[in-house]
Amino acid sequence: MKILTILGARPQFIKAGNISREIAQHTNIQEIIVHTGQHYDANMSDIFFQEMKIPKPDYFLGIGGKSHGAMLGQMIEKIEEVALKEMPDWILVYGDTNSTLAGALVASKINIKLAHVEAGLRSFNMKMPEEVNRILTDRISNILFCPTDTAIKNLQNEGFENFNCTVMKTGDVMQDGALFYKQFATRPTFDIKDNFILCTIHRAENTDNTNNLQEIFQALEMISHHQQIILPLHPRTKKMLENVNITASNITIIEPVGYLEMVWLIDHCTLVMTDSGGLQKEAYFFHKPCITLRDETEWTELVENKLNVLVGAHKEKILMSYEKKEDLFSHNYDLDLYGTSNVSGLIIKSLLQYNL
Ligand code: UD1
Ligand code: UDP
Repeated sequence: MKILTILGARPQFIKAGNISREIAQHTNIQEIIVHTGQHYDANMSDIFFQEMKIPKPDYFLGIGGKSHGAMLGQMIEKIEEVALKEMPDWILVYGDTNSTLAGALVASKINIKLAHVEAGLRSFNMKMPEEVNRILTDRISNILFCPTDTAIKNLQNEGFENFNCTVMKTGDVMQDGALFYKQFATRPTFDIKDNFILCTIHRAENTDNTNNLQEIFQALEMISHHQQIILPLHPRTKKMLENVNITASNITIIEPVGYLEMVWLIDHCTLVMTDSGGLQKEAYFFHKPCITLRDETEWTELVENKLNVLVGAHKEKILMSYEKKEDLFSHNYDLDLYGTSNVSGLIIKSLLQYNL
């Protein structure tokens, strides 16, 4: 069986790392990796391939730092060329980025079976580019690997039972990785205080809205006088902070880190504050409460179980949730929300069986 895997952005490298480890155990599977180039800085891309021992991409398309339309259009053109040359049994896409949608559209146009990992998630906010990407990708996938019961329910509500596709709950592929890479976790070398907060911000709705960005950074700056805040800064956020002249002198702002340092930071922090999708789940895997700097989340089971609170980009709400953090969270992590083990194994087994 030949799989053409489409990767482009940081969370996809992390998800694919786990699947690639699984594929390496099957001599009857050939994986061809296409890296679209959507993320291209060494610490947003290469470091994950090195640390997670993901095979070097067979094709690097170099399409990053462009408008969404230009990115998508160029990716479609180039991925189609590769797919026509390789003629795989499957095109495999992850998550909800522009690289995901580009891979999905190519599969549909040239009639190659499409598998979507992290299918069925919804924020119900159509202003998010990711929401549009995931809805469109799901609709044209042949097999949809869903991480949660909520994802399955979302697809049922959209009538997927009537469509000619296979929907299955597999659990979350990031859980495999977080627990596997914990053994290799590496302490970063800068000054880290006990009880620090780990924070990341990169969502367009926060970075591209000056008011939101100001509210978030004003709140974080105030909190950082009580507890160290470590913030590995996404390049998108870095650019916007510079553009609108926001400074945050007391926050420990660092360059994006690789996965092994990130896992150490998650494992040793006391609280996560983020607008990242992946990090919300990792907070749960490592039994850390999470304050989410968004108005909605795709990982609703975390909120329902009082492991995560949504505060948006509102300074007062952020400060209030920080002050009340002892009362807000249930700290019950014994819930099996994302499957138990070897999600990657289940996904690969399903692709092999489907192919028979
Ligand atoms: C993308 C995904 C988002 C995901 C995030 C993960 C889409 C629509 N969004 O958002 O779902 O959560 O990746 O991090 O696909 N940049 C650099 N260096 C890099 C990467 C990006 O400077 O290595 C800059 C780009 O030039 C661009 C900005 O960061 O100006 C945003 O990058 P882009 O890939 O468009 O979107 P993300 O915000 O990273
Ligand atoms: N991450 C990382 N280094 C960083 C910031 C994040 O390795 O400096 C990891 C994080 O632990 C998670 C993934 O990147 O596994 C999440 O990616 P991101 O927040 O960029 O995207 P999202 O999950 O929101 O799509």
